[in-house]
Amino acid sequence: MSQYDPNRINHLSLDSASGPAADESTNPASFQTQCQSDHDREIPEVDLLSPLTLRGVTFRSRIAMSPMCMYSSEDGFANDFHLVHLGSRAIGGTGLVIVEATAVTAEGRISPADMGIWKDEHIEPLARIARFLESQGAVPGIQLAHAGRKASCDRPWNGGRSLKNAAEGGWPVVGPSPLPFDMGDPVPQPLSAEDIERCIAAWEAATRRALGAGFKVIELHAAHGYLMHEFLSPISNQRTDEYGGSLENRMRLLLRLAGRMRQIIPQELPLFVRISATDWVKGGWDIEQSIVLCRELQSRGVDLIDVSSGGATPDAKIPVSKGYQIPFARRIREEAQIRTGGLGLITDPQQADEIITSGEADLVFIGRELLREPYWAIKAQHALGEEPAWPIQYGYAVKRRAK
Ligand SMILES: Cc1cc2nc3c(=O)[nH]c(=O)nc-3n(C[C@H](O)[C@H](O)[C@H](O)COP(=O)(O)O)c2cc1C
Repeated sequence: MSQYDPNRINHLSLDSASGPAADESTNPASFQTQCQSDHDREIPEVDLLSPLTLRGVTFRSRIAMSPMCMYSSEDGFANDFHLVHLGSRAIGGTGLVIVEATAVTAEGRISPADMGIWKDEHIEPLARIARFLESQGAVPGIQLAHAGRKASCDRPWNGGRSLKNAAEGGWPVVGPSPLPFDMGDPVPQPLSAEDIERCIAAWEAATRRALGAGFKVIELHAAHGYLMHEFLSPISNQRTDEYGGSLENRMRLLLRLAGRMRQIIPQELPLFVRISATDWVKGGWDIEQSIVLCRELQSRGVDLIDVSSGGATPDAKIPVSKGYQIPFARRIREEAQIRTGGLGLITDPQQADEIITSGEADLVFIGRELLREPYWAIKAQHALGEEPAWPIQYGYAVKRRAK
């Protein structure tokens, strides 16, 4: 069953090597000073609508579209649906638009309909999207992903069940250890040391393709029980080699990968990592380990941690409520001295604004509310007392009707 099926993914259950470090100081207090000087709003403060500059990239506001799988690709290709879907959020004023989990290998897809970037032919349709997002004032971002043992599932609207063999349209899944996600799910083939090298090479090639397509933010997906998270969590990783056991060993693959990606990504472009701050089960991955991990990611030149949670096990009991993941973003920001993105059930502009003004996070990632309302960012400007920045094609007409 698929990760982003609310019945399986508890964090949605309410609706049911080294590289250069960032140029700016990593002290959150100095983030604010920096940003104050970056804009000329009447009240010079850091808030939801103020711009943010990371390395050489400026987001027009702190509003980001969270990556969301649309299960609408054939053979991994982006198409007109994705252009209009993502493009309308850019027209709607969103500062950063992140393309959904995009598989670095074909077997790393959650479903056969996932977006992919495992071959050069995938670049041009993605480049068309990146160009359009940028033409509308949004920063184009892409999330690179490998689903590990949670790959090979049907689309969520078909039930999201595991596709167990080729006859069902599925393929064998891989992971750190031969432990299935849930009872009855396929047992993953453990990655050998050579497989791990091949996997890193696939992420590197995907990073180069994403840059070739013109994306200005690359996000490494290490959350929600997918391959990178599977190596971090003792629930899914019971290896006895250098990639399992101690925290240092469990972090090894992700830290190597982030370092290698940082070496490929130009100095002026940011690298984000999405993590699950906790597995929400005793003996699993937790916030203390996340803080250690994020310090290491920061020292390898990662610019922002996009802080989610859950997904490693169907047994987790998640206390889902408004803003329930934001304390993790705050702690990581303060204790690992790295910028964070806050997310989860953010629907209201005031709520989003408070997350930024109180210094809990540097960006807010909006998911389902942006599915409901592509113009959420423009509505947030209105709600927070700013003149809505309509696209020029709409603005004169909308304002005229209002008179
Ligand atoms: C339809 C759908 C698809 C999603 N796909 C992804 C994805 O590709 N990558 C990811 O990291 N999270 C994914 N998520 C999680 C969202 O990015 C977001 O973190 C989550 O929905 C919580 O935020 P929200 O309450 O604003 O929706 C998905 C969520 C939904 C609803």
